[in-house]
Amino acid sequence: MGKLNQKVAIVTGATSGMGLETAKLFLEEGAKVVLTGRSQEKLQAIENQLSGNYLLIPAEASSISDSKNLISMTVEKFGKIDVMFLNAGVFRMEGIGALTEAIFDEVYNVNLKGPLFTVNEANAYLNEGASIIFNTSVTNVKGFPAMTAYASSKAALRSVTKTLASEFGPRGIRVNSLSPGPIDTPIYGKHNVPQDQINDMASSFPSMVPLGRFGQSSEIAEVALFLASKDSSYITGAEIPVDGGFAQV
Ligand SMILES: NC(=O)c1ccc[n+]([C@@H]2O[C@H](COP(=O)([O-])OP(=O)(O)OC[C@H]3O[C@@H](n4cnc5c(N)ncnc54)[C@H](OP(=O)(O)O)[C@@H]3O)[C@@H](O)[C@H]2O)c1
Repeated sequence: MGKLNQKVAIVTGATSGMGLETAKLFLEEGAKVVLTGRSQEKLQAIENQLSGNYLLIPAEASSISDSKNLISMTVEKFGKIDVMFLNAGVFRMEGIGALTEAIFDEVYNVNLKGPLFTVNEANAYLNEGASIIFNTSVTNVKGFPAMTAYASSKAALRSVTKTLASEFGPRGIRVNSLSPGPIDTPIYGKHNVPQDQINDMASSFPSMVPLGRFGQSSEIAEVALFLASKDSSYITGAEIPVDGGFAQV
């Protein structure tokens, strides 16, 4: 029997990287999984990697009406919700002089407002014992240049984790974050980050990580499964670093 047998799980940003690996692992563990992505095309493109009971829903992470639709379609198809992995996020790098209001709003809307209001929409449909998991980042406790918007959006998400853990505790609902270090996913090439900065990060990060390498999405998925399942039944309000020691030593 799987660790999430018959549980209903939502994974946002499941078309690539950590979200995709986590959705696949949750399916293997017996969950009914709702996968979101920005576009129907990208969702269809991953179908050949999925098996089990799943539903694909296009949802722009920053849109509250898309979150509302996501929750109502989930409940209609599978019933009430047991696990939410709020994973969709964008990464941007701008020095302070290049940061604009539009960039700031995009980062905060996708990385902070979206996850928070998706939980807000799901509130009435969460089963007792549900597990909510946010995807933050070790940048929220470090001081890397050019990451003011990104790192602070993830710091706010850590704060949301703790506040919601208090609010949901009386209902037996746990709220935690996992905080990745550098993980080998397509994110670095997707946004505005210039190739020379990507190359710099690729060559410098391993030497800054005690384990000496980038992490893999599968290593995030295993921790998401731990937080989603009964294995972590007495953990709430925590931010678990999954960073090869990057922000720990
Ligand atoms: N990789 C790292 O080193 C690292 C480190 C710390 C934290 N994180 C965090 O980990 C999470 C997952 O990132 P990843 O590295 O796995 O990146 P990824 O491969 O780019 O996956 C991100 C997922 O989020 C989706 N997404 C992005 N913006 C969206 C939006 N506006 N609306 C709906 N979906 C959206 C992406 O869809 P598309 O395929 O359409 O882009 C994709 O499915 C993010 O929150 C990121 O900030 C990553």
